[in-house]
Amino acid sequence: MCDERDIHLFGDEVYRGLERDTRRTLPNAADLSPRALSLNVTSKSLGLPGLRVGWITCRDAALRSRLERAKHYTTICNAGPSEVLARIALKSRTIILERNRALIAANLPVFDAFFAWFPEHFDWQAPDGGCVAYPRHLGAEGVETFCTRLVEEAGVLLLPASIYHSDLTPTPVDRFRIGIGRAHPERGLDAFTSWMRDHR
Ligand SMILES: Cc1ncc(COP(=O)(O)O)c(C=O)c1O
Repeated sequence: MCDERDIHLFGDEVYRGLERDTRRTLPNAADLSPRALSLNVTSKSLGLPGLRVGWITCRDAALRSRLERAKHYTTICNAGPSEVLARIALKSRTIILERNRALIAANLPVFDAFFAWFPEHFDWQAPDGGCVAYPRHLGAEGVETFCTRLVEEAGVLLLPASIYHSDLTPTPVDRFRIGIGRAHPERGLDAFTSWMRDHR
């Protein structure tokens, strides 16, 4: 559709490779169309946020050049050691993705069990892929107040819907982002559970 209408498609593919069922992995947008751009980073599927390396794949050389100039305008250069480490990670991509998919698969039952305790407060559905989930908050006080109180009173940080507001399209107003990709989520969930029991 984009090709027919001469529209560039920007594919944010940072969670690609973390599908629960790898048969459902979508192709890179940039592989499908010369007008498409595929964004990726080391911080999500590869689990290496500290490297601060990301990239855009695009077959349109003129557009790539404009993007490169914009990047150079805002940043002198990447950190060299980060680029070396990113190359090592990309070469070991298969092993790292397998490890991270296993971590999420082990975490999901822990999150399922947590949310099963509070069905009247949250609408939880395990995501089909990725290392974050976006459950619905059902409480009367609204998700913004809920997240503020939770971080201030229990030290548990969730990102409320307002963080993901867009002027371009309607976005949910009752959801929060929660990470499911780190080892040992129990500590955070225990603090969350205690707070819920004390306050709900
Ligand atoms: C969908 C999506 N795209 C891009 C990014 C940016 O990743 P980075 O932290 O590497 O800048 C994020 C980070 O949360 C994200 O969720």
